[in-house]
Amino acid sequence: MSGPQARPGVMRLSPYQQGQSAIEGISNPIKLSSNESSQGPSPLAIEAYQQAASQLNRYPDGSQSALREAIGETYDLNPQRIICGNGSDELIQLMARAYVGDGQEALLSENGFIMSNIHCTAQGADLVIAAERNYQVDVNAMLTLVSDKTRFCTIANPNNPTGTYIDGSELRRLHAGLPDNCLFLIDEAYAEYATAEDYDTGIALADEFDNVVVTRTFSKIYGLPFLRIGWAYCSVGIVDLVQRIRTPFNTNGAAMAAASAAVKDTAYIEEIRTHNASWRERISRTLTEIGIEVIPSQANFYLLRFAKDSNKSGGAAEAFLQSRGIIPRPASGADEFLRITIGVDHENEAVLHALSDYMDAP
Ligand SMILES: Cc1ncc(COP(=O)(O)O)c(C=O)c1O
Repeated sequence: MSGPQARPGVMRLSPYQQGQSAIEGISNPIKLSSNESSQGPSPLAIEAYQQAASQLNRYPDGSQSALREAIGETYDLNPQRIICGNGSDELIQLMARAYVGDGQEALLSENGFIMSNIHCTAQGADLVIAAERNYQVDVNAMLTLVSDKTRFCTIANPNNPTGTYIDGSELRRLHAGLPDNCLFLIDEAYAEYATAEDYDTGIALADEFDNVVVTRTFSKIYGLPFLRIGWAYCSVGIVDLVQRIRTPFNTNGAAMAAASAAVKDTAYIEEIRTHNASWRERISRTLTEIGIEVIPSQANFYLLRFAKDSNKSGGAAEAFLQSRGIIPRPASGADEFLRITIGVDHENEAVLHALSDYMDAP
């Protein structure tokens, strides 16, 4: 074979498919395919972004200190244990690059966030995938698969695409069953939306144990996915290692300025969290009443399941919603499922209306 040869892990991958954002012939569709915030960011974040335009000729602050301090203040965390990335996705990639590779195993959950699989595969790691129960991480199943080659374990909590979560005690039990030399990454992209009483962030675990990393993002509740900015909280030892492989200016100046302002506007975030929780409950109740199974969600989206033996399906529901100008996210290779983001009032009303008509249709 001639030409450069990519590493075997890279050859095994296929490109990530982004959620659809347009419908032919429909202007201004309701885009509910990527778990974005329909409310958008805090006005303070927009203002900070605009002000950043006066500094486009300068490199950003490679130490990320203003943003780390702003996050530290809002979340009551030590800024020295925070590291920021070009989206939390980059941080997952950096952790995989630093901690797992050829001949080692990455322990993942069946319906876990797909980017973790991609980054670990690219590293050359063998993916060991635990089955789920009721679309939820099954800690027992994961723990039975731990081996002396397990170097990386990750779950998203709440998870995408299921929206489900495991409670604080299950999270601790999973961590307790992992060897010390295994990095445990808890992806909390949707943590700010979780309202269940027994939901617990992994931040206390990351404080206690030096093999735990929690990742967070400004792409979801903070409404800044366009800018690509996220953060991780972990031991200073892990921060130090990741500093060695991250590019010096991985987080851009405009993103850090906007995120620093966004994270301080806690009242704005609280409003969105309340809006989301109330719609999540209403949507779940209404759709269940009309015969659609709604997987219980703690995130800003819900996964619908259409019974296999019925004349309804995720694919047909998707086409029906699109005919009404609404873009949901189909599940690749599983026609019973459809994922829909929770939007603003009129968007959610439109979805409920359309799905009711879809279920009534012969
Ligand atoms: C569970 C989960 N983790 C991480 C991400 C990545 O987010 P970002 O890279 O925008 O921070 C997403 C994005 O959809 C997600 O759903």
